[in-house]
Amino acid sequence: LGCRRLFPDLEVRAYLNHAGISPLSSLAAQAVAEAAAGLARGGAMQLQANLDTREQCRQRLAQLLGCQASDLAFTLSTSHGVNCIANSIDWRTGQRIVLLRGEFPTNVVAWLQAAQREGLTVDWLEADDFDSEIGLLKLEEALKSSPRLLCLSAVQFQTGLRLPVKQITALCHRYGTEVFCDVIQAAGCSPVDLLDWEVDYAAGGSHKWLMAAEGLGYVYVAQRHARSLKPNPTGWLSLEEGLRFLFEADQLSYQRPLVAAPGVFEMGTLNNFGVHALNASLVPLLELGVEAIHAHVNGYLDRLEPGLISLGFVSRRSSDRTRRSGSLSLQPAPLAKVSGCDLAHHWAAELALRGIQVASPDGLVRFAPQWPNSTDEIGFVLESVKEILA
Ligand SMILES: Cc1ncc(COP(=O)(O)O)c(C=O)c1O
Repeated sequence: LGCRRLFPDLEVRAYLNHAGISPLSSLAAQAVAEAAAGLARGGAMQLQANLDTREQCRQRLAQLLGCQASDLAFTLSTSHGVNCIANSIDWRTGQRIVLLRGEFPTNVVAWLQAAQREGLTVDWLEADDFDSEIGLLKLEEALKSSPRLLCLSAVQFQTGLRLPVKQITALCHRYGTEVFCDVIQAAGCSPVDLLDWEVDYAAGGSHKWLMAAEGLGYVYVAQRHARSLKPNPTGWLSLEEGLRFLFEADQLSYQRPLVAAPGVFEMGTLNNFGVHALNASLVPLLELGVEAIHAHVNGYLDRLEPGLISLGFVSRRSSDRTRRSGSLSLQPAPLAKVSGCDLAHHWAAELALRGIQVASPDGLVRFAPQWPNSTDEIGFVLESVKEILA
């Protein structure tokens, strides 16, 4: 924790955009380079190594997410995973779904499309309401009309608010409502325990807090639903023993049953380089442990937040410690000659010039350290902010 030894090529002085895209560690970069060298040397001979790494990676990811490896399938992205579920649920016309205002568009757009296609009714709640008990009260009201599904993100991309997913799921299940959870802003920095939370479906990606590469995501389906989905999309590898005809005669068949597990969504060739990167980046995450990472990151933010507030920023971080994630988002301090809508973007650009990477989603400045960030950076970040204000 607090050591950048695995990031020797990282140029910026304070990398604080892990909720956006993380830098690749030397472990992950080396794993990708070895897989690329294997492909260059032997082409298809690399296949077995790729398949073995995929299963090892699935095991490691399952350990991190608190589920069984067989409950997970690799996808191209979180958005792909959301679509796998939205397209495969056996909807009935007139069913209701509940969406949250404030969510990242991934967790809204696919559901709105499903609603249009399947004749579903959409109800809305405010993500911000879950910063207090009001969220659960409003949710219970919405549940009285027996929606089929609630869609939420475990951590909100904009404010960093961490939702009480276990409590939400327990309440939903009392009313017969299933829960879909986007975990990309949580996994790798905030605790995720899919089996304990009892969520029905989940999806995420590997380029944020998991510190791997873009182009690889995952989808989770609770075992109790694996047989009731009507999988879409599907492909040659969605079939049981779908690879067999490549190695044996008389095995080419289109009639094999579909895999009755989320693996059905691994329908074709996969981003194997992404798998090698994730498999390697999971090693330090599991060794350090997510609880320790979360404590480290929040220790960092606990020191940064008051400094920024004293310089005119307005924090959107929850006052409830159990609702905090790895992100600290703030309304930025005003700057002469910069208009309201450009302000956060301007701050991000000014900080970048000084070697500090942050993001500026929807008008907020978001500071998102991960396990390699050291609290030694904080003085430099605050001095840079003072310089920009001067
Ligand atoms: C909560 C959330 N979901 C989904 C995404 C997009 O993920 P992907 O590009 O893997 O589809 C993001 C990206 O910022 C996000 O913050």
